[in-house]
Amino acid sequence: MQMPAVELHVHLEGTLEPEMILALAERNRVELPYADLDDLRSRYSFVDLQSFLDLYYANMAVLRTAEDFHDLTTAYLLRARDAGVRHAEVFLDVQAHTGRGIPAAEVVDGVTSALARSGEHGLTSGLIVTFLRHLPGADALATLRELLALDAPLLGVGLCSTELTSHASEFAPAFDLARASGLHVVAHAGEEGPPQNVVDALDILHVERVDHGVRAMEDPALVARLARDRVPLTVCPLSNVRLRVVDTLADHPLRAMLDAGLVVTVNSDDPAYFGGYLDENLRQVAQTLDLGPDELHTLARNGVEAAFVDDARRAELG
Ligand code: ADE
Ligand code: ZN
Repeated sequence: MQMPAVELHVHLEGTLEPEMILALAERNRVELPYADLDDLRSRYSFVDLQSFLDLYYANMAVLRTAEDFHDLTTAYLLRARDAGVRHAEVFLDVQAHTGRGIPAAEVVDGVTSALARSGEHGLTSGLIVTFLRHLPGADALATLRELLALDAPLLGVGLCSTELTSHASEFAPAFDLARASGLHVVAHAGEEGPPQNVVDALDILHVERVDHGVRAMEDPALVARLARDRVPLTVCPLSNVRLRVVDTLADHPLRAMLDAGLVVTVNSDDPAYFGGYLDENLRQVAQTLDLGPDELHTLARNGVEAAFVDDARRAELG
């Protein structure tokens, strides 16, 4: 059976495992407000996206040097390889680090030096810098300008963090510059926010893929548009359960999305926080939603179709 082997929605900082948080805190002499590993783990219970983001950003305090970012990225690549991933497009929240005084070059050098060795682990990879939606659009634009000046090897840009406090139009200048610079563009939308956020991501930011997009299912006209235009949606089932986008995995709309002809893919989002990497997401949705070989094949094909790769690599992955 062909299993999905492409991961298109994973935040590198969301692969920061509790053990690594403690190890990096020691290495960098960062004081953490946790007594031990059990105490840290006890905080991994979320009521919504914001309750997760608060812990996710706080834990980034341990990431300080290029070596830290390199080690984090390498650990993800090894775990992804073990999950059967052959191509990964990873998100990096650069502003969450520059905002703490870590130079963008330090962050990007650490990540890209590790990604450059993806082939040694049997993968191809690309880097997508995700702008933080809770910060002003002008900050996103300044960050992109800095990364372009550094000649950072970017595949694309994205948009994440809370959907509830800003409008997509704030980020249009950054996305316009990204597209003019030949970068791919994606955005989180329709996770906690309404279907209109997905429409805005398409019409204002001109995204090529929508990250999450599950709430698009509330708007039949939008579903028809996404299916007609074959806009991929990078769905993250275990994330949606842990952040209470759905009540239980059995309530997840993945099967309905497939049935509606949407180009959906399965991804892990922040696997260190949500109970599983790509393999565990696939195992649990296949079991709970009773997905058979045909549906798994479609998910695999969708991932290959949605990946930002050249024709030769697409043919290899397919
Ligand atoms: N940043 C990391 N994970 C995220 C998610 N699931 N939604 C929005 N922003 C995020
Ligand atoms: Zn995400």
